[in-house]
Amino acid sequence: MQEISAIILAAGKGTRMNSPLPKVLHPVAGLPMISYVLSAIRSLEPKECRVVVGHAKNLVQSVVEPLGASCYVQEKQLGTGHAVQMAQPSSMQGHILIVNGDHPLLQAADLQSFVEQFEKQEADVAVLSAEMEEPGAFGRIIRHNGDFRAIVEARHAGKETLEIKEVNTGIYLIRSGLLEDLTSAIEMNAEKEEFYLTDIVDIANEKDYKVLAIPAKNPRVAFGVNTQEELAQASKSIFQAKVKTLMQEGVVVIDPESTYVEPTVRIGPGSVLYPGTFIKGLTTIGHSCVLEPNVFIKNTDIADACQIRAGSYLEDCSISEKAMIGPYARLRPETKIGKDAKVGNFVEMKKVNFGEGSKASHLTYLGDADIGKNVNVGCGTITCNYAANRKKYKTIIKDGVFVGSDTQFVAPVTIGEDAVIGSGSTITKDVPDRALAVARGKQFIKEDYIAKDEDECAES
Ligand code: UD1
Ligand code: CA
Repeated sequence: MQEISAIILAAGKGTRMNSPLPKVLHPVAGLPMISYVLSAIRSLEPKECRVVVGHAKNLVQSVVEPLGASCYVQEKQLGTGHAVQMAQPSSMQGHILIVNGDHPLLQAADLQSFVEQFEKQEADVAVLSAEMEEPGAFGRIIRHNGDFRAIVEARHAGKETLEIKEVNTGIYLIRSGLLEDLTSAIEMNAEKEEFYLTDIVDIANEKDYKVLAIPAKNPRVAFGVNTQEELAQASKSIFQAKVKTLMQEGVVVIDPESTYVEPTVRIGPGSVLYPGTFIKGLTTIGHSCVLEPNVFIKNTDIADACQIRAGSYLEDCSISEKAMIGPYARLRPETKIGKDAKVGNFVEMKKVNFGEGSKASHLTYLGDADIGKNVNVGCGTITCNYAANRKKYKTIIKDGVFVGSDTQFVAPVTIGEDAVIGSGSTITKDVPDRALAVARGKQFIKEDYIAKDEDECAES
């Protein structure tokens, strides 16, 4: 098979998005819109991928270059035909695939079957078309006796043409060596003052090339994002597809409509997702876990049989088997929770190693701390990790320590194995193994502090 190179059009501002972000960087189910297009194209193993950038070009460049594409600048947005020329197609090898950057539902299989059809039918120029019930603003595919003659933009179409339901999806394949000649023959559209890429259909027909509109097998390819509403539809569609795949793999989803899992996430069978779970990024979740309503989880590894209870927020951390988190826990980056550990309600942790079997069940802040195994952290414990010099210091609590409620650890401080900290202590010095440390004001009693008569007076 002939090799393929690709051009992605992404210079437009996306005026109808009414947003300062360039259109192709708007997130669709957590990833920039254009990254979906790039990954579909990557499945064809293209020789190279050139992205035409313009509006907010540095920003777009910073996203697409790490994905292996190179950028070509279109200073003024003079239309899709002009944009293709900016990619300098004469220096590209193989057939050239052109894709609009705003079609995030495009998938590898859609492009693969398009390329197969192109080869099989020995086309010179092909456009991927789709049937749409409401073709709206899409360019219409004009056929004479079945032969594909031209594309007419909706804004220039008469009533009859507007009734055509076969539309241009904005995906094209052009035989090796032909594109430069075709695009250089495009004339400026007088009304819109733009060069339309769609004009190459007419031009190629004039030159007697074999020009085909190849109907897509799946209408999703036609789904372009031009408005915020369409952006939300695209996200919804990707979330739903992901949840469907998870269910096929044995994940229990109580309400697929209200479960949001990004495509990059992996979840093992038998895990249960309650409504309102939002799972992002490079998260992996083992089997037989339960994620209760409204948990937010980002870039986190959760081992098998864990429970993440309602309203918890987990980011860049890792949870070992059978741990129980929440309800209403917040685990911040670089926190590692050991096997069988328990982190209860209103507990916040940051940069903590929390050992196997340890518990912090209520109302606690632990930051920059190493907590050993089987430690009991009482209610209201605080590690005072941030000092007046604006530096962070570490608290080390070794295996088996019992921390009474309402304790502050003024870091840096180390608590030895099996030590006991009396409730209400402010611990500023290291505590040896197996010692008891109490650091609080002593209770004193002053009897008859309130005179009995006064009480009587008050009542009379
Ligand atoms: C285009 C097609 C239309 C097709 C539709 C599919 C043309 C003239 N029309 O219309 O037939 O049905 O896509 O979605 O091509 N862009 C540039 N530089 C420019 C103009 C656009 O890079 O000067 C990029 C945009 O960033 C976008 C893509 O090209 O990613 C499509 O542009 P857009 O303005 O959205 O075209 P449509 O009006 O949707
Ligand atoms: Ca568009």
